[in-house]
Amino acid sequence: MTDEERLKARLRPGCICRGVRLYRLIEAIEGGAGSFAEVAARTGIGGGSCGGKRCGAKVALLLAQYGREQQR
Ligand code: FES
Repeated sequence: MTDEERLKARLRPGCICRGVRLYRLIEAIEGGAGSFAEVAARTGIGGGSCGGKRCGAKVALLLAQYGREQQR
């Protein structure tokens, strides 16, 4: 991930329902989180009005970008 992408991730929403920025999701995954549940435990995402649908899709995409299968 480039520095510019990291900077943009600081401005982009990761979980709109919980007000968590995208870079927090990235930090969690880079820190070893390998599933939505693990990212949620580290960042507080999920459980909002969308039921984790929107942020769940972002986590799945990020995990794929980092070469990890989403663990169930
Ligand atoms: S966007 Fe994360 S719970 Fe809705």
